[in-house]
Amino acid sequence: MKNNTKFYVQNIWTKGVNFYGISNPIELAEKYGTPLYVYNETILRNRCNELKNLLDYRNFKINYSAKANTNLSILKIIRDEGLLVDAMSPGEIFIELKAGFKPEEILFICNNVSDEEIAFAVKSGVMVSVDSVSQLARYGKINRGGKVAVRINPGVGAGHHEKVITGGKNTKFGVDPILIDDLKATLKQYDLQLIGINQHIGSLFMTSEVYIEAATFLLEFAENFPEIEFIDFGGGFGIPYHKGSGEQPIDLKKLGIKLKCLVDNWVSKNGKEITIKVEPGRFTVAECGVLLGRVHSVKMNGGKKYIGTDIGFNVLARPIMYDSFHEIEIYGTAERDNLFKETVTLVGNICETGDVIAKDRSLTKIIEGDIVGILDAGAYGMVMSSNYNCRLRPAEILIDKGGNDRLIRKRDELNDLIIHFPE
Ligand code: LLP
Repeated sequence: MKNNTKFYVQNIWTKGVNFYGISNPIELAEKYGTPLYVYNETILRNRCNELKNLLDYRNFKINYSAKANTNLSILKIIRDEGLLVDAMSPGEIFIELKAGFKPEEILFICNNVSDEEIAFAVKSGVMVSVDSVSQLARYGKINRGGKVAVRINPGVGAGHHEKVITGGKNTKFGVDPILIDDLKATLKQYDLQLIGINQHIGSLFMTSEVYIEAATFLLEFAENFPEIEFIDFGGGFGIPYHKGSGEQPIDLKKLGIKLKCLVDNWVSKNGKEITIKVEPGRFTVAECGVLLGRVHSVKMNGGKKYIGTDIGFNVLARPIMYDSFHEIEIYGTAERDNLFKETVTLVGNICETGDVIAKDRSLTKIIEGDIVGILDAGAYGMVMSSNYNCRLRPAEILIDKGGNDRLIRKRDELNDLIIHFPE
């Protein structure tokens, strides 16, 4: 079965970008099994390049926020593209070092960490950004006289769901700027050098206003700290999940022009060069990933049509956690009596009613055996998967630049479910 296989149903977006290379989703599902995360290297590299062009400024650095996708092969491609990385945990530091990032290319943005975790980062030679004055004191005890960064709450936030808005009043993140005197006193007490300040207002916004507002604030706040070497505005750049209804990508060009204006003004006012960083996770990896699953059951219940697949929320948690929307493509070779659209609810195989991938969606007729493709699954997909219901976490494959597919993470095996139990 090759690329010219006749699909009876919709596969519009992936066709336009030649997502599956020289293969096709039905063949890939047969070869590797489902559920299956498929990543496209060309799209990933394109996104990295778009980010590199965001800001026309000599000391501009992009820290990929690795929490969005920590597959080792994906990290290696991102590193090859020249991006640096953020880490949220010792585990992320560990895997980033394994991917070849140097310690000085990693920024550990920690939240409520233990002394051991701080010490791990310091010992690894990784720059730490602390999230509270008390954590700064803990850091000072561990690395007196050292360099440090601090995360500031800029007072504004943005994001696709209240759970992922990380700036403003209703969030645990960042140091409240009114605590600036405590911050300065603690730096002095432990002879620490504050070389960076960072912020992250939240995840997934499609317009730049709030980001610019926060960046303006942070630049001004930085003027309180003459030793500062970098300012990090955070991530959060959205991607168009509603592709089917023509949603446009975030206008990075416009964002870049506004940022440049702010940064240039700051540099000329303060008479010193500074490194500017951003921390995009989703934008880097979301669109390079499609999650394939198989339809095992089609049934009517309470007057609704349910399409039962093997994509439970253990595989993709975003819909159940945030009511997130993902476009769905359908791939099938079996003949069907018509191609009319019908309203269906696409569900997984987990024993909870909330296990819904797409509610009341209008889709071309689906029949058992079809493959469904959940678009934009490259960010916060596999990293948020679990073994709930003792389900096996899926395999991941890469469609490389030449269009060839290769395994980049094995599917869990049954034995993986018991390896951590003592004898
Ligand atoms: N920097 C920090 C400190 C962060 O906490 C995050 C994301 C990022 C950068 C990257 O944000 P991004 O560019 O990816 O929006 N699981 C949720 C998203 C959680 C984001 C958490 N923080 C989802 O699936 O929508």
